[in-house]
Amino acid sequence: MKIISSANELKKYLREQNKSIGYVPTMGALHEGHISLIREARKNNALVVVSIFVNPTQFLAGEDLQKYPRRDEADKKICELAGVDIVFMPDTQALYFDDEVKIVAPNVRGYVLEGATRPGHFSGVLRVVMKLLNIVKPTHAYFGKKDAQQLNLIELMVKHYFLDVTIVPVDTVRDSDGLALSSRNVYLSKEERQEALKIPKSLYHASKMISNGIIATQEIEAEMLAILEPLEVGYVAIVNREFEVVKEVSVGNCIILVEALVGSTRLLDNIWL
Ligand code: PAF
Repeated sequence: MKIISSANELKKYLREQNKSIGYVPTMGALHEGHISLIREARKNNALVVVSIFVNPTQFLAGEDLQKYPRRDEADKKICELAGVDIVFMPDTQALYFDDEVKIVAPNVRGYVLEGATRPGHFSGVLRVVMKLLNIVKPTHAYFGKKDAQQLNLIELMVKHYFLDVTIVPVDTVRDSDGLALSSRNVYLSKEERQEALKIPKSLYHASKMISNGIIATQEIEAEMLAILEPLEVGYVAIVNREFEVVKEVSVGNCIILVEALVGSTRLLDNIWL
């Protein structure tokens, strides 16, 4: 496995290989969720590239940029065991310039739900993903469905900027207690982790209501909010695949999303129907 930190060196190396590339962008602190993305990439591409970069532009002032878990050595081992060919580990200077030309998130879809609680976050995500896709030029790039709005905006950017890459959504991986895996779960105390389980519980309850024929989103959201109490809920929303809020669930075209603060940790989860 090669470790590369220079964008130009990575570009040169990958062009010389002239092979199909499966790419998994990450911010490190790798867990089973990332490994499942790597496994998907391994299935369909000759080369697998993982990037590890804690992207400062997607953190708002006062967020957890400084304390975001950094585990470079453990991450490299995980990548090696998972069969990754190249790990790209740039520093900030390797990716960002002064007075830069910027990509920004769309006015509506980039500023609702997660974009409303974290205004500007998605501009930072799109900016770095555009750079990374241009450096790696992957055949396929793999993103988790857990970050549903991020995935949706990246798909839009690929379409709007005519990028030559296939985005592959990958299912969320959960711990045995139902909590969706996230690098931020390490912040949770034992008690907070118990409280956090209200999130998957509320989603499970919603899916049960829907299988019992209840499709009015207001009714479903109200019951979810009751389960989530006393957590500080950022949003509970039911949207279609275009990320528009809907009044009725239509199976095959809906995502139920939750964002809640557990202690000081913001957690996201969702189910795709
Ligand atoms: O989902 C993440 O880990 C990050 O938002 C991403 C896509 C690697 C961009 O920094």
